[in-house]
Amino acid sequence: MLSINTENLDKIDSAHGLTQGEIEKETALIDTFLENIHKRKQGFYKIIDDSGLHEKVHSFAANAKTKYKDIVILGIGGSALGTICLQQTLKHLYENELDSAPKLHVLDNIDPELIAEIQDIISLESTLFIVVTKSGGTPETISQYFYFRNLIDNKGFNPQNHFIFITDPEKGLLRKIATEEHFISFEVPPDVGGRFSVLTAVGLVPAAIIGIDIDKLIEGAKSMRDNFLDERKESNLPFKLATIQYLLEKKGKSINIIIPYAQKLIKFADWYKQLLAESIGKKSNENGEDVFTGITPVNALGVTDQHSQSQLYNEGPNDKLLLFIKTKEKATDISIPNLFPENESLSYLNDLTFGKLIDTEMEGTLQALTKNDRPTITIEIDKINAYALGELFMLFEAATAFLGEFYNINAFDQPGVELSKILTKQLLTPTENDSST
Ligand code: PA5
Repeated sequence: MLSINTENLDKIDSAHGLTQGEIEKETALIDTFLENIHKRKQGFYKIIDDSGLHEKVHSFAANAKTKYKDIVILGIGGSALGTICLQQTLKHLYENELDSAPKLHVLDNIDPELIAEIQDIISLESTLFIVVTKSGGTPETISQYFYFRNLIDNKGFNPQNHFIFITDPEKGLLRKIATEEHFISFEVPPDVGGRFSVLTAVGLVPAAIIGIDIDKLIEGAKSMRDNFLDERKESNLPFKLATIQYLLEKKGKSINIIIPYAQKLIKFADWYKQLLAESIGKKSNENGEDVFTGITPVNALGVTDQHSQSQLYNEGPNDKLLLFIKTKEKATDISIPNLFPENESLSYLNDLTFGKLIDTEMEGTLQALTKNDRPTITIEIDKINAYALGELFMLFEAATAFLGEFYNINAFDQPGVELSKILTKQLLTPTENDSST
C-alpha cells in the first residue's frame, strides 16, 4: 500500500513547514468536503466499478493486438496524457524499439512535422487510429482525424477497419460520425472530465492493447478510492495530500514540484501537471467572487534534476513544495563493480547497486532540502506496477477533488481551455469582411 511521509514538514522552520497538529486540525472538514464532492456528481471514482466496460475492453484488445502493428492515438490533453503515462510507466522503456507489436504512438500535437514524420514509421495498412475526444469537437483532434481519414480513404481501405472512436455517448461531431458510419466506439462518461478520464476507455483501451494489466490498474485505483471515501480521517491519504498542498500554498508555496525518482514515472508528472493546473487554476469561486486560485505544477526527475533544477530548489525563492515519489522495491537492480577497490576515495562504491545509489541520492537531496528549510513530502509506492499506478492516479485525482473544496472552486470545469477552443474556431472561420476583400 502506498504511503505518504511528511516528516520533513515538522523538522523545518514552521514558517515553511507544517506541524502534525496543523495537518490534523483540517480533518474536521473531511465529512463536509466528501458530501460536497458527492453533490458534484462526478464519476471519476465510480467509473472503476464498470465491469461491463472492462469486459468490452478486454475483448476488443484481444482482437486488436493480433490485427495491427501500430496503434496511433489522435487526441490531446486528458485524451492523451494518461495513455502516454501508462505506456511509459508500465512497458519497457524502449518498447517501440524492440521487436514488439503492436507499437503505440500518441499524437498529442498538431505540429506538421509530427504529422508528417509519424508516417515514416507506420504502415497505414496495419495501423489502427484511436480517435479520442471527450467533447468530440476539439479542433486539434478533429483535424488529425480528417487528415488520416483522408489518407485511408485515398488508399481505398475500409475506414471501419482503421478507426475507432472514444467520445461522449451522445454529443459532438465524433459521436455523430460513429453512429452514422457504424464505427466501433467507446464512451467517455459525461460525468468524467477529460483530465480525470485515464481509468475510463480513454486509457484502458490503448493500455489493454499493448498488454498492460488493466485489472490490476483498476484494483489499485479501487483500493485508493476506498481510502478516499473512508471517513477514518487520519488515514485518508488524498485528504492528507490536499491538506498539505493547500496549507502550504497559504504559506507561500504556490509551486508544486513533482519529482519521481524513477525513470518510468517521468510521464506521471506530465499527467499530474494537467490535472492540477486545469482543476485548481480558477478565476472565480463558487460564490462568484474573483479569487484567481492556482498551484503551479512543475515536473522534475530524480536524479537527473539534481544536476539541473535542484540548486534553485535549495537556495532560490522558498515558494515550492516538493512532492517526491519513491519506490520501495526496484523491479530491476544492477550491481556496480568497483574497478579500483584499492582506491580509498572510491570505497563508497563497494557493494553498491544502482538501486541503492538512486535511493541514497534521494535521501541526500531530501536532507539538503530539510537543512535549507524547504518543504517536501515523500509518496512511497511498493514497486512500479499496474496496481501502484492505479493507486497513484486515484490518489492525485481524489486529492485534487479535495483541493477544489478547500478553495471553494469547481475543480471539474475548464472555462479557460474552452474559451481558447472557441476563439481558435472563430479565428479560422471566414467572416463577411474577409470574403468581400
Ligand atoms: O480536462 C479537460 O477536459 C481538457 O483539458 C481536455 O482533456 C482537452 O482539452 C481535450 O479535450 P477533448 O477530450 O474534448 O478533445
